[in-house]
Amino acid sequence: MHNFSPGPGILPAPVIAQIRADLPEFGATGTSILEISHRTPPFEAVIDEAERNLRSLLEIPTSHRVLFLQGGASLQFAMVPYNFLRRSADYVVAGTWGKKAWEDARRSPPVDGAVGARVAWSGADEGWSRMPSDSDLSLDPDADYLHFTSNETIEGVQTAHVPATGAVPLVCDASSDFLSRPVDLARYGLYYAGAQKNAGAAGVTVAIVSDAMLERARKNGLAMLSYPTQVAGKSMHNTPPCFAVYVVMLVTRWLRDAVGGLAAMADRNSLKAARLYAAIDGSGGFYRGCARPHHRSLMNATFRLPTPELEAAFFNESETLGFVGLRGHRAFGGVRASLYNALPLSSVDALIEFMAEFARTRG
Ligand SMILES: Cc1ncc(COP(=O)(O)O)c(C=O)c1O
Repeated sequence: MHNFSPGPGILPAPVIAQIRADLPEFGATGTSILEISHRTPPFEAVIDEAERNLRSLLEIPTSHRVLFLQGGASLQFAMVPYNFLRRSADYVVAGTWGKKAWEDARRSPPVDGAVGARVAWSGADEGWSRMPSDSDLSLDPDADYLHFTSNETIEGVQTAHVPATGAVPLVCDASSDFLSRPVDLARYGLYYAGAQKNAGAAGVTVAIVSDAMLERARKNGLAMLSYPTQVAGKSMHNTPPCFAVYVVMLVTRWLRDAVGGLAAMADRNSLKAARLYAAIDGSGGFYRGCARPHHRSLMNATFRLPTPELEAAFFNESETLGFVGLRGHRAFGGVRASLYNALPLSSVDALIEFMAEFARTRG
């Protein structure tokens, strides 16, 4: 199988092998990893290593806390305004996920009854084909934060650039390019990602929050929605998603030991994406990329064929040959090849070969 699934996505084969080994008995515990209490030394070692691995891979500054939360990235859409929106917040809406984040913020009344959630830029008029540059953004210098999505998973646009917001804190949904490349986390007030694409299994969301941001958070908020409460409880205010945290530990261990860190991972990812986009661009117009070239996602390559009938045939034929997950999101259509960290270059090469043959026989 060649797994191009958009998420939950492909996991590294050695991680699957380790899960298989740990499932009947985890270490010398005599029990499965699924059966141990979170308040025991074996699980504390798991969550500690997951955090340590993330800290070393991402070079997380000591000024930032690492949280393992539940509710998916979607709950962050609610927690962010709940904790930080007082007067106004700016949202970059470059695709479906940025829009959903903004919609939830719009539903959260600002505490002082002032501006609320604003759209600093929207990509709707340009068919979600690019990310904004700084000069596109209409920013409120007094905003409580600016929220953006570093990689729009459905439309396949990714930013290579961190918005310049001056003193306004940056909040980033990095769900679909988390751990795919190095990031300067010192620039972020909050950086979060659902684990199920590049970091592990569904069920846990990693949130990295600065102490300065925590100072601004709502005090005495509802416990499960409160970043300060989650920090105080060391991600164990309630039972954490133990198994999902354990998978994050394994994936980050793989990234560190087998891949050699995020710069090496970024090189692999660039190579995979460059090969696929070259095949799209070299197809004489049979395949057409959806995003503008400088805004193309290295994680989710979106493209179209000349007709819906050809796209249907493309999916049917590719599926019989073992390609999984290539159907574009139902709201966007077309083909989407998700090239997450664990996808080997050989799968990309196999897809390119299939695409060339399909274009030759049908073009
Ligand atoms: C960029 C982005 N943000 C948010 C989400 C929503 O994540 P979840 O399903 O974990 O709530 C997704 C899911 O695909 C995503 O790709």
